[in-house]
Amino acid sequence: MNAPLAVEALDLERTYASGHATVAALAGVTLGIRRGEFVAVMGPSGSGKSTLLNVVAGLERPTGGTVRVDGEDLAKLDEEALARHRSKRVGMVFQAFNLLPRFRVVDNVALPLAFSGVPAAERIRRARAMLERLGMSSRAEHRTNELSGGELQRAAVARALIAQPAILLADEPTGNLDSANGAALIALFEELHAQGQTVLLVTHDAQIASHAERTIRMRDGRVVDE
Ligand SMILES: Nc1ncnc2c1ncn2[C@@H]1O[C@H](COP(=O)(O)OP(=O)(O)OP(=O)(O)O)[C@@H](O)[C@H]1O
Ligand SMILES: [Mg+2]
Repeated sequence: MNAPLAVEALDLERTYASGHATVAALAGVTLGIRRGEFVAVMGPSGSGKSTLLNVVAGLERPTGGTVRVDGEDLAKLDEEALARHRSKRVGMVFQAFNLLPRFRVVDNVALPLAFSGVPAAERIRRARAMLERLGMSSRAEHRTNELSGGELQRAAVARALIAQPAILLADEPTGNLDSANGAALIALFEELHAQGQTVLLVTHDAQIASHAERTIRMRDGRVVDE
């Protein structure tokens, strides 16, 4: 196992000011995730799991330490480069699916490519191919409000993967699913991992985490066990 690192965090910090107090959501996180790994992140509510994902995703900037994603030091990126990082290097799936309602599934999946200069017809072609890969071809023309929870989450994964990100980040993606749909989504993640996709998955569910190759445990903004 000496694949290059997909994520490397050294003493990573993220503090928030709230009133007079400051909250250290990340209080010195050091970890490495290799390319092609499937890693789960667990820990109590408030332990910093979402903050860690958001920093790796480039949605939030660290307030201390360093984080490299696919070799790129995020602190060195200006706003424009960070926006490119968000749209190309990482794909993110949330607990609430965050798809645009009333739009077709295929348009939702194609959307991230609109920011990388891919012509419209090619965007739709790639979105259809991705939906086919995820077993969602028959739903491509449906509006997202016509889908089941499990289908919505599959569409969200298709959208996260459309720009071929180095890493797939998922923050409690099974949180709104029943156990059958949750199991199906994890089976999909395992399949993507088998195809070489790096996956970082936050979950409260030990059963879900057991499908990952290893689990990082957080508490009070720190990694307590890798
Ligand atoms: N924008 C913010 N402003 C102030 N405090 C924040 C902000 N975002 C997160 N925090 C605080 O940082 C800490 C870590 O939050 P985070 O969302 O990362 O936890 P989590 O492990 O994802 O929890 P959960 O399991 O409930 O989703 C919490 O104490 C939270 O209140
Ligand atoms: Mg969270």
